[in-house]
Amino acid sequence: MNINDTFTQRFGDDAAAFTVRAPGRVNLIGEHVDYNGGLVLPMALSLQFTLRVRPRADNVVKLYATEFDDEQNFSLDELEKRGEWIDYVMGVADELQKSNLNLRGFEGVIESTVPIASGLSSSAAIEVGSCLAFLQVTNQSLSSTEIALLCQRAENNFMGVNCGIMDQMAVAACEKDHALLLDCRDLSMRQVPFVLDEYSIVVTDSGAPRELASSAYNERRAQCEEGLAVLQKFDSTLQTLRDVSPDFLEEHAMDLSGVVYQRLKHVVNEIARTLEAVQVLEANDLARFGELMNESHHSLRDDYSVSSLELNYLTDWARHQDGVLGSRMTGAGFGGCTVTLIAKKNVQDFMRDQPIEYSKKTGRTARCWECTAEQGAEVLDR
Ligand code: GLA
Repeated sequence: MNINDTFTQRFGDDAAAFTVRAPGRVNLIGEHVDYNGGLVLPMALSLQFTLRVRPRADNVVKLYATEFDDEQNFSLDELEKRGEWIDYVMGVADELQKSNLNLRGFEGVIESTVPIASGLSSSAAIEVGSCLAFLQVTNQSLSSTEIALLCQRAENNFMGVNCGIMDQMAVAACEKDHALLLDCRDLSMRQVPFVLDEYSIVVTDSGAPRELASSAYNERRAQCEEGLAVLQKFDSTLQTLRDVSPDFLEEHAMDLSGVVYQRLKHVVNEIARTLEAVQVLEANDLARFGELMNESHHSLRDDYSVSSLELNYLTDWARHQDGVLGSRMTGAGFGGCTVTLIAKKNVQDFMRDQPIEYSKKTGRTARCWECTAEQGAEVLDR
């Protein structure tokens, strides 16, 4: 049943209803650098959240999630975390109200094709999607950057997840047929054309749990801060690791502990790789783009230590297949997805064989999607 039918069946007349879509994202390159003022290059996916909602006259939000066959209600006057999917919507309402925006309730259906906890930003998508719904029912608007910042605060404050700004910005600001070059130092953006005639992007979900993800994520952030504090003793003008050049880092390698040096090495080089990746993309040098993806993976594996056996297996396997130019883990790591740049003519075989070989090796189930760059979150049929 499509979402409009589900809506009518549960909520009746849909004359006043509208639809919001909010996509998941995949990051092409620039990993674990957003919280260091670095550069990232995500694109929006066709895997997406869809909300079909109708304004209510009161303060109640009532949403039915088809994925869980579950309806949750809350009042805008009582926002308290429940450990349920609706928390994301409450967190956004909380931040909107803290920003002095007057809200009213809505009711409807929420549907998703974004796999949960797979590193494709299902959280950012539900946040940005519900933010657009709240704004639409009250005829208010915010820029995509304001929306992303607000949703990031919801994730940080209400959900208690210490994420950077990449995911919310990607969901809110990506454009169709483009990757988004986002400068996380000042949130300036450039839409980089991303239509690859003979090549494709394949995303593979490793299906492996991401148990370590949040504790390790916080630990990496702390190590970056520790390293920055040491380097600032030698140059007080440094504001983030973005300001640290590879040469400066090498000069001060001995001033840092071994682990902290490795973490910083990843960050500093990954920022440089992302800049180069955009240049080579614009020069249509996809072979070099693929090499940079491989280098990024190795750095995340060896220096930043956020990969996993599964992600290493998937990317190694991928690099040995016909037509593959590069393959890397994407997102926070410790499970989640890989992203592979591959010739279109080889996609079919790749998507058939990779899950089979992976399952033989690990006993786990992988899923692959051939992806194009899609439009960021938007309100439809308003
Ligand atoms: C998660 C976070 C992002 C970013 C990535 C790693 O997706 O939410 O802010 O830090 O990890 O690049």
